[in-house]
Amino acid sequence: METGPTRNLALELVRVTEAAALAAGRQMGRGAKEAADLAAVEAMRLMLNSIEMNAVIVIGEGEKDNAPMLFNGERVGTGRGVEMDIAVDPIDGTRLLANGNWNAIATVAVAPRGTMFFPGPTFYMKKIAVGPEARGKIELDAPVAHNLQVVAKARGMTVDDLTVVILDRPRHEDLIAEVRQAGSRIRLIPDGDVAGALMTCWPDSGIDILLGIGGTPEGVLAACAVRAMGGEIQGKLYARDEVELRHGRELGYDYDKVLAMDDLVASDDVFFTATGITDGELLDGVKYTGSSARTDSLVVRGLTLTVREIIATHRLDRLGELSSIKY
Ligand code: FBP
Repeated sequence: METGPTRNLALELVRVTEAAALAAGRQMGRGAKEAADLAAVEAMRLMLNSIEMNAVIVIGEGEKDNAPMLFNGERVGTGRGVEMDIAVDPIDGTRLLANGNWNAIATVAVAPRGTMFFPGPTFYMKKIAVGPEARGKIELDAPVAHNLQVVAKARGMTVDDLTVVILDRPRHEDLIAEVRQAGSRIRLIPDGDVAGALMTCWPDSGIDILLGIGGTPEGVLAACAVRAMGGEIQGKLYARDEVELRHGRELGYDYDKVLAMDDLVASDDVFFTATGITDGELLDGVKYTGSSARTDSLVVRGLTLTVREIIATHRLDRLGELSSIKY
């Protein structure tokens, strides 16, 4: 059914990730994870609350780092207008930022109320993510070599030329061996698997597939982004030990179920934005030039699959007069 153009919330949300990135970017390389988180969270909350929406945080930040939180269940937005679920990660890659490493980003995703997966107490999720060409071809539970073959075929490449992005963790030793055995190239990243998943949907990134176990909240955020960019992600909850497994099962979580994109975010009407904090394959980091700063953001709308890149110049002297955020 044809309608007129409707609101693209992502165009408003980009101010949220820009603000978080501008506030956190000052902390690059200073080794101060908490201070960076605090700056990003405060800027993000202030901006979120200026947006006309009635949103509940389903994927919040903080439990992992004991960070200042945008906590699960917190209501954000003006409280008026559409009811939404919201997922935030004010800094995906807090350690990357603290160490001045690549690919720290500020991210937020919004989808209709009740559509985002609530991960409960399970910290980790096994993930596979690919870009649009390989959508509908992957199977999380299939052997690694099979997934590499189908992705290579879908992209018109050989398995040898594929690049797989994997978090550099001891738990991935076997996975890395399997990928090497199959013949593909690997990009090991120290942190930041939301950015890793996004790269699979970004033609210029040189990344074809994300594999491995990362944070569950990051999995839901990545699902919003990947869905809105026309790619595919699947996940499976991964308990760290028997206690976590038992607790999760008591709460009704299924650790054998492959979570398809519809399980992770059950709507195409999803909005996602990310702003680079440090430089990366995906986005440039914040650049400060005296009285101004430049940000680079990805602005994505799932309904239309429109992807925008917004480069903004912020006049810090002027913002300093108008805003309570310390940029
Ligand atoms: P934060 O910076 O938000 O803490 O997360 C960084 C991150 O690398 C995520 O991108 C990833 O999903 C998770 O941590 C992996 O967890 P772990 O460091 O425990 O392997």
